Amino acid sequence: MGKVLAVSNQKGGVGKTTTSVNLASSLSYLGKKVLLVDVDHQANATTYMGINRSNLEYTVADIFTQTAPIESVIQSVESVKVDMIPARFELVNIERRLLEDDDMEYVLANALKKVRHKYDFIIIDCPPSLGIITMNALVAADGILIPVQCEFLALDGLTQLLNTIRVIQKKQKYQQRKLTIEGVLLTMLDTRSNIGYEVINEVKTYFKEKVFQTIIPRNVKVAVAPSYGLPVTEYSPKSKGAISYRKLAREVVFNNDQ
Ligand SMILES: Nc1ncnc2c1ncn2[C@@H]1O[C@H](COP(=O)(O)OP(=O)(O)OP(=O)(O)O)[C@@H](O)[C@H]1O
Ligand SMILES: [Mg+2]
Repeated sequence: MGKVLAVSNQKGGVGKTTTSVNLASSLSYLGKKVLLVDVDHQANATTYMGINRSNLEYTVADIFTQTAPIESVIQSVESVKVDMIPARFELVNIERRLLEDDDMEYVLANALKKVRHKYDFIIIDCPPSLGIITMNALVAADGILIPVQCEFLALDGLTQLLNTIRVIQKKQKYQQRKLTIEGVLLTMLDTRSNIGYEVINEVKTYFKEKVFQTIIPRNVKVAVAPSYGLPVTEYSPKSKGAISYRKLAREVVFNNDQ
């Protein structure tokens, strides 16, 4: 049964999409069957994967409005052998509509149930908010992967995320599955400045063994790869960024094979 990982942090620009895309491609490289789900109306993961948004018949919005079965929304990204549920701007209107529904937090989880058996990992790239769309992702997830940027105020706002996790765990009281913290990933470390290392210490003091050993360095190839519609692991496989993301994938696989 596929392990569902939500990549989430309500803070913007911390590396959620970069991590989702590169973890997905690196897990596929390790021979795992992977589904990447974009639930952000900015649709960055969809773009980073080189999918042309104007040609899409269905998007993740159809899953939320239940206007298409999940199977018809899944695209295959040949370049990296990853399946993907793409997003587009119309997702922005879904939030309001979902709030009118009673079972609003379970829509994505219910849809994913139908395809989980086909995958080893399902990675969900969340938007920078804790609204109903993110709630859907967290309710559907077994684990949350929290990217934290190695910058000033890195931990700011994380209390809110941790409270949300607790709320969801309470709701899942009678379910078999429970949301856990899969790991905290330190991203965009600038090895030339001290602040990055200070943040690493701070995050490790707070999250202890929950922090991934892999740390993602700031690397220009990572920033450039999306403009080629490729994960950095494909665009520049020997770059420091690519090597780090492949290491992260091995760590995730190791942690889940225990
Ligand atoms: N390791 C890295 N080295 C250099 N640039 C990076 C790295 N990781 C991410 N970036 C760049 O930082 C920016 C933000 O990254 P990304 O889009 O992954 O963040 P995000 O958390 O998904 O943002 P949002 O909250 O808007 O969804 C992007 O321009 C990306 O290319
Ligand atoms: Mg993003």
